[in-house]
Amino acid sequence: MRIAIEITYLISSTLFIFGIKFLGSPKTARKGNLYAAVGMFLAIAATLFDQQVLTFQWIIIGSIIGSLIGIVLALKTPMTGMPQMVGMLNGFGGGASTLVALSEYFKKNPNYPVEMNLPFNLPVNESIAIILSLLIGGVTFTGSMIAFGKLQGIVTGKVVKYPLQHPLNALLVLFVLVAGAYVVINPSMMNIVILITIVSLVLGVLLVLPIGGADMPVAISLLNSYSGLAGSTTGFVLGNNELIIAGALVGASGIILTNIMCRAMNRSLMNVVLGGWANAGAATSASTTSPKGDVKSIDAEELAMLLDSVSSVIIVPGYGMAVGQAQHAVRDLVNLLEKKGVKVRFAIHPVAGRMPGHMNVLLAEAQIPYDKLLAMEDINDDFPNTDVVIVIGANDVVNPAARHDKNSPIYGMPILNVDYAKTVIINKRSMNVGYAGIDNELFFYPNALMYFGDSKEAISKLVNEIKNL
Ligand code: TAP
Repeated sequence: MRIAIEITYLISSTLFIFGIKFLGSPKTARKGNLYAAVGMFLAIAATLFDQQVLTFQWIIIGSIIGSLIGIVLALKTPMTGMPQMVGMLNGFGGGASTLVALSEYFKKNPNYPVEMNLPFNLPVNESIAIILSLLIGGVTFTGSMIAFGKLQGIVTGKVVKYPLQHPLNALLVLFVLVAGAYVVINPSMMNIVILITIVSLVLGVLLVLPIGGADMPVAISLLNSYSGLAGSTTGFVLGNNELIIAGALVGASGIILTNIMCRAMNRSLMNVVLGGWANAGAATSASTTSPKGDVKSIDAEELAMLLDSVSSVIIVPGYGMAVGQAQHAVRDLVNLLEKKGVKVRFAIHPVAGRMPGHMNVLLAEAQIPYDKLLAMEDINDDFPNTDVVIVIGANDVVNPAARHDKNSPIYGMPILNVDYAKTVIINKRSMNVGYAGIDNELFFYPNALMYFGDSKEAISKLVNEIKNL
């Protein structure tokens, strides 16, 4: 039986690895999801066959309640609310690791539940795994809940600074490590184990509270990585190979994604992790000079006429397309333009929107073929040879200040060079700022034309005007 379980674990781990590999491209992402889901099903099934399961009653009750909550949340959460949903799920992973580590600690004490303080032996590797699980799981749980609260607007999204922030956090980490070492030597120190748990939970709050809203999605990706590490250490606590591997995969892929996001947003990982060490994101910046000049706008009819005589168009979607749910109208626009023989492609910035792959998911939902979606590095050189660029609800990712304004908070962030095209149309509702909270000089460029309006309404109107030509 044991061998069958371990072989199933091996197969499921392999499926996880292939799943992650396929998730690397929009074309194969669905297949990747399926592989990972089958892997998870096998892992759960094999674990349920394990002889350590004492009763199925609570497992079934827990699964039903958890599944119902999961289904309702998944159906009700809008696409724009995904980052906080992911944040909450990470938190539950961390919380589960903490609970498992605590219960294993009590289970391994032969004197449980009376005379718990009598000495007993716990192998060093097991006690280290328990302490690490409590630390990482606790930080992940409360940290993710704060991250969820910040994105949901329940907790302030501003950078929160408090006295002695970094020395205090360092002291708490040191306490957990020293107290943890003490528990490794004297495993019966139950009160210290409970104290370690409480301090870890407090640490999660203190570490995430200072992180500004602008950095929150990066923090969530990092917490995702932590939840994997917590799972992995819990795997050591339980002696479960599958959990060790799956946790390590989540930990590693989470940190890689965090790094990619940091690079695309021009933020340093250390800056995000240390929360408010330096100027963290939007709220603290805005020392740039506001662009001045004339803004030219265009209406739907004029734009339809302009598009009647072009041969190449690049569409740049951004957060505003997601807010307006304009992806289906955009697909209609693409179909119409292509019928007229226009070459239409999409330029996707890695941090357009509010979560990795945000634009790809929306455009895929509208059945726009993957081969039309080009990553920034694959299309950035093509803008000078493009007749018209249509920016739909994007702002920061096309702000040329990132290239030259050293005072700008987004200075150094790679951007889509839309201003190099012959004409740039920018669709948004007003002259309002984007996520970074700064004005965009692109709107004042001589080759830029503002097409004001809600993305869905504006693009639908444009589609009708093109049809009426
Ligand atoms: P943003 O810079 O946030 O700009 C979005 C623009 O959309 C706003 O200026 C807004 O202007 C417009 N808008 C909002 N609702 C609209 C609607 N219904 N119709 C039309 N326009 C609408 O977006 P972006 O260019 O996609 O850049 C993303 C930003 O988020 C970057 O700063 C990035 O660093 C940050 N960020 C991204 C991620 C990931 S992983 N994607 C994670 C964290 C942070 P109006 O109000 O005038 O309409």
